[in-house]
Amino acid sequence: MTTEQSLSGKVVLVTGASRGIGYAAAREAGKRGAHVIAVARTVGGLEELDDEIQAMGGSTTLVPLDLGDGDGIDRLGAAIFERWGHLDGLIGNAGLLGTLTPVPHIAPDEFEKVMTLNVTANYRLLRSVDLLLRQAEAGRAVFVSSSSARSAKPYWGLYAASKAALEALVKSYASEVSATNVKANIFYPGAVRTAMRAKAMPGEDPDTLPRPEAVAPKLVDMVSQSFAQTRMLFDFARGELSAL
Ligand SMILES: NC(=O)c1ccc[n+]([C@@H]2O[C@H](COP(=O)([O-])OP(=O)(O)OC[C@H]3O[C@@H](n4cnc5c(N)ncnc54)[C@H](OP(=O)(O)O)[C@@H]3O)[C@@H](O)[C@H]2O)c1
Repeated sequence: MTTEQSLSGKVVLVTGASRGIGYAAAREAGKRGAHVIAVARTVGGLEELDDEIQAMGGSTTLVPLDLGDGDGIDRLGAAIFERWGHLDGLIGNAGLLGTLTPVPHIAPDEFEKVMTLNVTANYRLLRSVDLLLRQAEAGRAVFVSSSSARSAKPYWGLYAASKAALEALVKSYASEVSATNVKANIFYPGAVRTAMRAKAMPGEDPDTLPRPEAVAPKLVDMVSQSFAQTRMLFDFARGELSAL
């Protein structure tokens, strides 16, 4: 993969685009010429993104949406259909860590919240845009997960379970669309300097971690037409592509 793949004329949807990895990925996609559909709840973050992409000569559609709103996700798919009739790229990045705590101590409402964003919202997105990805010349979906899905360390159970569920969902979906032009993959960013990482590791010096802009190009490569593999996992920290 290179950092040079053009997305000129492509329509790319990025969730969690108001800050962190999603913001950097949306900016990168805009820089490469995509029309970016940017989804998150924080309007200020989305507007800042819009300013940056416009300053580079690009364009966005801002979608302030709580991804817990499944009907809202359905409406988003319908709106994309009306305007473009297809979707070239989906970057399912929005995620929630929850509280790091022993499994029996996880609060029921927090379990719901993390599963809703990390799993259910991505299922609802695929349900909403599947036909739009199939309508594209080369539909690409990539979802941001974490090595926690496999390491399932003590106190990380909720987050790990949600990412493991996401990966299973994407793996099945990738197999289901294998006879089409759609490819679906998983991306592990590794430890990145974001608000989520600071919450997970409050004692860590953020200056020792890569910035979101450092991982974004590889993530965005995975929605380019030239990324032709499917049911794969790209681990940024290891620089490795392997079967999901
Ligand atoms: N940072 C790391 O070290 C690291 C490592 C491994 C994996 N990851 C994964 O990378 C992805 C991005 O993480 P990050 O570190 O960039 O996190 P972050 O800085 O906390 O950003 C999370 C993004 O998700 C959005 N979001 C949260 N709840 C939402 C909701 N209900 N509806 C819509 N959007 C919502 C947030 O926007 P609003 O609050 O504006 O809605 C924000 O844009 C996540 O999937 C995370 O699990 C991160």
